[in-house]
Amino acid sequence: MVYRSDIEALVVGGGLVGCLVARALAAHGLGVVLIERDPELGQRASTAAAGMLSPQMEAAEGLLAESSTRAEAMLAFCLAGRDWYPGLVDSLMRETGLEIEYRTRGTLVVATDSIRAEALATAAAAHAAADLSAEFVDGEQARRLEPALASRTEGGLLLPDDHQVDSVALVGAAARAVVDDPRIRLELNCQVVGIETAAGRVTGVRLERAGGAVDHESASLVVIAAGAWSENVAGLPRRLGVEPVKGQMVAVDGRAAGLTHTVGGAGVYCVPRGDGRVLIGATVERAGFDVSVDEAAIAGLVAAAAEYVPALGRTDRLSAWAGIRPGTSDELPIIGPDPDVEGLVYATGHYRNGILLAPITAAAVAALAGGSALPVDLTPFSPARLRGPRKDPRNG
Ligand code: GLY
Repeated sequence: MVYRSDIEALVVGGGLVGCLVARALAAHGLGVVLIERDPELGQRASTAAAGMLSPQMEAAEGLLAESSTRAEAMLAFCLAGRDWYPGLVDSLMRETGLEIEYRTRGTLVVATDSIRAEALATAAAAHAAADLSAEFVDGEQARRLEPALASRTEGGLLLPDDHQVDSVALVGAAARAVVDDPRIRLELNCQVVGIETAAGRVTGVRLERAGGAVDHESASLVVIAAGAWSENVAGLPRRLGVEPVKGQMVAVDGRAAGLTHTVGGAGVYCVPRGDGRVLIGATVERAGFDVSVDEAAIAGLVAAAAEYVPALGRTDRLSAWAGIRPGTSDELPIIGPDPDVEGLVYATGHYRNGILLAPITAAAVAALAGGSALPVDLTPFSPARLRGPRKDPRNG
């Protein structure tokens, strides 16, 4: 066992959240070790994501559509998270010299039946009442905005502030920034096999390296940012309830459709990229960590997209993949200090919003570490709400 005493902060997980947390902690003057079990950073959920920065679409369509304190807190957090994007993209591009496609042309959620169109009109009014940019457009107006929409489009919800980012380019730049930062030491092919504590404080972690050697890193701060794999970090004092939720996606040649907005439909979204691809997503499957892709699911996604944008059903499929979202039992992320172990902090469980929430999560963790003002009230996301029993340590 090698003991090191020069380490202050350890971040477990090298996806986008982990990279940005490491970067934010380093910017606050901490020495940081970033631990990733894969040979490369960010090659799991972060690069699989479509990169939608679309809290308003989620609010109109999905989980955030509920009216509950929980949903309101999540929407406020996601809206605040969206505001961090222009600054993040600028600073990463400046630091690394890499291009990141960040599209600010907005999102159009569409309906091909009158009931759904009515729901979108109601959502538009609710967003406007909350001072958010949103406009209901009728079918004709929607087709003027996106001529490739189906002729039977009944209406649309235009969300000019819901943007999207190329997650692969973003993760590439974040990884480069981490690699180039002399304040961050990267440990790849490594997994945490124990969290070490003394007198209620974290003191470090036990690591297993690729060849099986067990090592030790001292730290006064350990941040768990391992996404869907967070539950498998051995030695955590509580059950997080983070569960893998698979999302299959397909990229098609979207040049004929010529979409400019991200287009959302019931259970499907179509995200245009500058290179002419349209990313169509995504399934929501409880299938463990399996990332296989199946024809039925991909055909279902293409058919769902073609319901709204028929040209997408007649074009070439280019690639298909699956990512694993970190779901939680209440669908809220888990961000904040462990109530029982000082120095142990969680930044995980972002479920459908990992890309969107990565920068604000990093800022929040750095503020916690530095004792400065938080960018957002973390109470709804506190790990203190997780009262599950201590889990058995296991490798994962
Ligand atoms: N954020 C979209 C998804 O998780 O599929």
